Amino acid sequence: MVEISTSILTVKEGEEAETFFALEKARTDYFHIDVMDGKFVEKDTYQKMMEYSSYIRRISNLPMDVHLMVEDIKKGIEDFSSVEPNVITFHLEACKNEEEVMENIKKIKEMGAKVGISVKPNTPIEEVYQYLPYIHICLVMTVEPGKGGQTLITDMIDKIATLKKYIEQNNLETDIEVDGGINLKTVQRVKSAGANILVAGTAILAGTDYSIIINELKNS
Ligand code: DX5
Ligand code: ZN
Repeated sequence: MVEISTSILTVKEGEEAETFFALEKARTDYFHIDVMDGKFVEKDTYQKMMEYSSYIRRISNLPMDVHLMVEDIKKGIEDFSSVEPNVITFHLEACKNEEEVMENIKKIKEMGAKVGISVKPNTPIEEVYQYLPYIHICLVMTVEPGKGGQTLITDMIDKIATLKKYIEQNNLETDIEVDGGINLKTVQRVKSAGANILVAGTAILAGTDYSIIINELKNS
């Protein structure tokens, strides 16, 4: 069964608390926290996501899935460890070298969180292979990171399938998470390609009864 990670990036101002309560009631598997520093991507959501994730941690025990779209990954890991995330994902493209990637993996594990590495659409999937044995999740971006409400880039379907094949051929246990433009039109293709954690923001928050759309995404 796939898991749903609801991105809170596009939560309506002034409706944050009721949205977070409603998402908890709808039993989203994760809250997906999109942390942007205004450098790795244009938008800066850093402070806002710090506030939102602290609030969510106070009202809910549901897992948090922190997606760091930042240049200073070390700082992001330190700052967001305060909300005890279940997963912290950083971008391969923000790391200078292998050593830095391995340091980030170690730092996240020392914090007791699961480790994710994310790759942007133009990054060849082969670049993440060497790290797969050490991480829990590979987050395949199905849009260019930086904002919600975009359309899934269909070339990413093959990329997911290639990753899934490599994971199976090498007897690895790495989860495949997909992020961007996931909705009832695209969910079946990403699932059959091998994704087992689906991030959705617009598709869920645009609805009124979140449990209906979450279940439809799960059971499609
Ligand atoms: C984009 C974020 C995604 C985005 C997903 O940079 O990483 O999590 O918010 O939003 P939707 O589901 O609206 O594409
Ligand atoms: Zn994200």
